[in-house]
Amino acid sequence: MQIKDKEFEIYLTSQVIQDRIKGLADQINIDYQGKRPLMIAVLNGAFMFAADLMKSLSGEVEISFVKIASYQATQSTGKLDHLLGLQENVKDRDIILIEDIVDTGLTMSELITNILAQKPASLAVATLLWKKEALQKPMKLQYVGFEIPNKFVVGYGLDYDGLGRNLADIYQLKE
Ligand code: IMP
Repeated sequence: MQIKDKEFEIYLTSQVIQDRIKGLADQINIDYQGKRPLMIAVLNGAFMFAADLMKSLSGEVEISFVKIASYQATQSTGKLDHLLGLQENVKDRDIILIEDIVDTGLTMSELITNILAQKPASLAVATLLWKKEALQKPMKLQYVGFEIPNKFVVGYGLDYDGLGRNLADIYQLKE
């Protein structure tokens, strides 16, 4: 499978992905029984995972979508990330962050810091994919779909240069 200049091969089929998501949802249903969690899904990549996960959640559950805007601050050394689109009050809520992939973990770590500052009752992370070897920031990931090698993947919400998000399967860069 070709996207622009790169060739990809099938890695996780739609069936395998859907089965695993059902398993994650079952676990979340047990863990959050009697609670009303607020899922916070990170756009763009997590939109498919969030939609399929939501369909298998039972009980009362809410969802909100956020975007992370990154820019280089004019003079400071670091990169600042802003969370856009979160209208819900996070304070005292049971929050589950939904990501497509945790790679270096820098994005997730920023997100966790941001949400914790708003004093939720609890905070958990659900990520479909985890490139464990690439992790630079240690963190606890409560719900992980698949641990994958440190290779570039596309499909099921994940893109290569804007393309490939529509694919139902996940593909790995061919070497
Ligand atoms: P991190 O901050 O390095 O953990 O990267 C997080 C973001 O990088 C993800 O939300 C994705 O948008 C993107 N990303 C990381 N690895 C991949 C990949 O293999 N394919 C597509 N996008 C990726």
